Amino acid sequence: MTFEHLLTVKDLDKATIEQLIAQAIDLKQNPQKYQQALAGKSIATIFEKPSLRTRVSFDVGIQKLGGHAVYLDQQNGALGKRESVKDFAMNLSCWVDGIVARVFSQKTLEELAEYGSVPVINSLSDLYHPCQALADFQALTEQFGSVEGKTLAYVGDGNNVTHSLMLTAAILGCNMVVVTPPGHSVDGQVVVDTQELCAKSGAKLVISNDINDLKGVDAIYADTWISMGDETPFEVIAEKFMPYQVNKQLMAMSGAQYFMHCQPAHREQEVTSDVLDGKQSIIMQQAENRMHAQNAVMLALLQK
Ligand code: CP
Ligand code: NVA
Repeated sequence: MTFEHLLTVKDLDKATIEQLIAQAIDLKQNPQKYQQALAGKSIATIFEKPSLRTRVSFDVGIQKLGGHAVYLDQQNGALGKRESVKDFAMNLSCWVDGIVARVFSQKTLEELAEYGSVPVINSLSDLYHPCQALADFQALTEQFGSVEGKTLAYVGDGNNVTHSLMLTAAILGCNMVVVTPPGHSVDGQVVVDTQELCAKSGAKLVISNDINDLKGVDAIYADTWISMGDETPFEVIAEKFMPYQVNKQLMAMSGAQYFMHCQPAHREQEVTSDVLDGKQSIIMQQAENRMHAQNAVMLALLQK
């Protein structure tokens, strides 16, 4: 399957995701093969929100492929403020070969793709975080060999990261258990889309508010309880979310082999330090894979 943009993992089919993961693993193992893969290509990286991992992994990743990254910060990359998203996209397309954008609204990405003439990669929006999910499933593939038939659990706030994990798992035939506090569930349309993908792949999806549903899973994934752009003070949600904290007892009860987190992590909130820093934690493997998974995506979109 060829794809023009990566706005959501729904843009990809199973074979394509598997190829991207295999490519990412080869990029990780044999970086010398790819030193000129994007020679002469320029890629704009736009950030409407803060970032450590995404900003640095794209910047360094593009450089490792011989390309050139142009960073637009929260002031210069504030889409739709100084000029319309349409004009922004048309101007950028005059100079760069690809656009990576972290935005408040998924709609902004759709407009960039519609009015620009170069591939657009979603590096986090309100709805999705596809680059994160690809890096995470690369890590799970490295650990398990195949993710088919395995069960990944997500616990905490239903958010952009959860959505992309659900969709990727469903496409790949990996079961998923999503446990959130009442009132903090995942997006209803994403559940419908995931169920459709599950029907094709045979994967199972469980949506629940009960941490007992985490029993028997293979890996547990946590993310912040309050995502960027959400102004809710921590004190308002702390009591409701604390029973969903990933700690040693929850890990033991679940039987999970691995702990995962996209980071930034909030120690002693969604996860305790002993789990985050413990032997079962593969968070640094996830972080390292961000660059390789993204480079695989850029090769697929730009090396034509
Ligand atoms: N996981 C992730 O996207 O991290 P940053 O927000 O630091 O880019
Ligand atoms: N859900 C988090 C992910 C950060 C990488 C957020 O959107 O802030």
